[in-house]
Amino acid sequence: EKGGWATYMDKEIHEQPHAVADTLLGRTDESGRLVLDEIRTTEERLRQVDRITFVACGTAAYAGMVAKYAIEHWTRIPVEVSLAHEFRYCDPIVDGNTLVVSISQSGETMDTLMAVKHARELGAMTLSICNTHGSTIPRESDAVLYTHAGPEIAVASTKAFLAQITACYVLGLYLAQLRGETYADDAKAVMHELQGIPEKIEELLGRMDRVVEMADFMADSRAVLFLGRNVGYPVALEGALKLKELAYIHAEGFAAGELKHGPIALIEPGQPVFVVVPGPDTPHDLHKKVVSNIQEIRARGARTLVIAHDGDEDVEPFASEVIRIPQCSPMLAPLLAVVPLQVFALHLASAKGLDVDQPRNLAKSVTVE
Ligand code: M6R
Repeated sequence: EKGGWATYMDKEIHEQPHAVADTLLGRTDESGRLVLDEIRTTEERLRQVDRITFVACGTAAYAGMVAKYAIEHWTRIPVEVSLAHEFRYCDPIVDGNTLVVSISQSGETMDTLMAVKHARELGAMTLSICNTHGSTIPRESDAVLYTHAGPEIAVASTKAFLAQITACYVLGLYLAQLRGETYADDAKAVMHELQGIPEKIEELLGRMDRVVEMADFMADSRAVLFLGRNVGYPVALEGALKLKELAYIHAEGFAAGELKHGPIALIEPGQPVFVVVPGPDTPHDLHKKVVSNIQEIRARGARTLVIAHDGDEDVEPFASEVIRIPQCSPMLAPLLAVVPLQVFALHLASAKGLDVDQPRNLAKSVTVE
């Protein structure tokens, strides 16, 4: 049932173009406007939303972090992201106009379920982004938006993550559309670009030979660092999580701007550092800022493993390796940038002879608190 792939994880990584395409399927009408028939709530109710809190754990929480940047940018609605187990046991500020969005592949994660129940008790409106039909979390939520990644077997989440990000974009763009004309036009344009992403993921998957080689010769690494900014920051965190859980290597993700506030002290000659570079047209000069972050760590001897868009020549002088991703607009880049990091973790774990689909000490769905 692995369809010719050595592991479920490999298979699921290669199913990502479909996971994204299927999650987008049927969400727009002929004119390109978003329609969310299945969502189990009304436009009137969603128009009242003046604040959004995401609750999730692990990889799903990183999808929420990507969503925060995108949804605030598109709708100007304030968005927070809380780890579900932290949300449950703090004193969260929510009211009837707060939309608490849970993200869960399994729909059975106890920490996330408890957070959803808590949010409901506090009077919030709850929406579940979930990959498993009929599971507990969507049943306990007011509204639901299913991801259509298909069953995910490998413990390490890959295609569900891409589908979660996609569903978050759909939700954000829908809320933008509800906010009126100007927002709606922008939403249409982004939705249009989003439809082209599966093809780009497919293309990217065809270029992973060098990443596999890198993973093979880095099997003895003791620590690997990951840097990113803006939507690239959760991508860095996800790259680090994949490497920890699959290859048992100490890995840490940082917001690149934090470097000089501490982490740069970790840089010594030969230290591998992945850097997720935003596209050259990213606002606030972020591209230039990340390039200078690469320059800083390279000057201290780091092995800079740079994930950059096609055609971005600025990174070349400071990169030990450049991993190219197809061009796309800044907000959508996580759907591409994370793929080489998944492939890297998978192949490094395989090079170490580890069980990729079933890493030690972990369960696919964490149904205890
Ligand atoms: O089923 P869920 O999406 O609620 O699971 C949440 C996390 O346990 C999960 O994403 C975990 O971090 C993965 N093993 C990461 O690959």
